Amino acid sequence: MRIEFTVDGKYYTLSVSSDKPLNLLLSDDLEIKSTSFACSGRMCGLCVVLMDGKAVLSCLVPAFEVRGKTITTFDGFSKTRDYRDIEKAYSSMQNYPCDRCRAARSLLIESIVRRYEVTGGDFDSGEVLAEAALIDCDCMDSDGFLKVVRESILNRRKRKNVRRA
Ligand code: FES
Repeated sequence: MRIEFTVDGKYYTLSVSSDKPLNLLLSDDLEIKSTSFACSGRMCGLCVVLMDGKAVLSCLVPAFEVRGKTITTFDGFSKTRDYRDIEKAYSSMQNYPCDRCRAARSLLIESIVRRYEVTGGDFDSGEVLAEAALIDCDCMDSDGFLKVVRESILNRRKRKNVRRA
């Protein structure tokens, strides 16, 4: 089948098998190497990307679902000001993810930050920790992860307010 989609701001058209998973589209067809994968589905969480701004396990998203979508990988995201908000949070909390999960974890945090940025709702630690469980890595404990997420949200709100002023 033919699919059109956008990845890190670039528009692509590909002819692929309809069930080819997004992580393989990214690595094989587009040669994007920042999306890791270390299992055959739903176990490692290292394949997280953003699809229309929401974190998804790219190994579970078949090509036909990618049609018309906007995908963000860590290749593109790591060059944005949005990523700086998260980097600053890692730094001020003195809590950094390991190299293995940094890409997936940062994209997962971005997905959460965008949700709170948009809704402005009350921070739900239980919900955030349930999302954190997507990534199978012990480099950041639950408390540390929540602090980094909260700080990232604050950084984002501060920066957006400054920009509007
Ligand atoms: S490759 Fe392990 S969860 Fe996607």
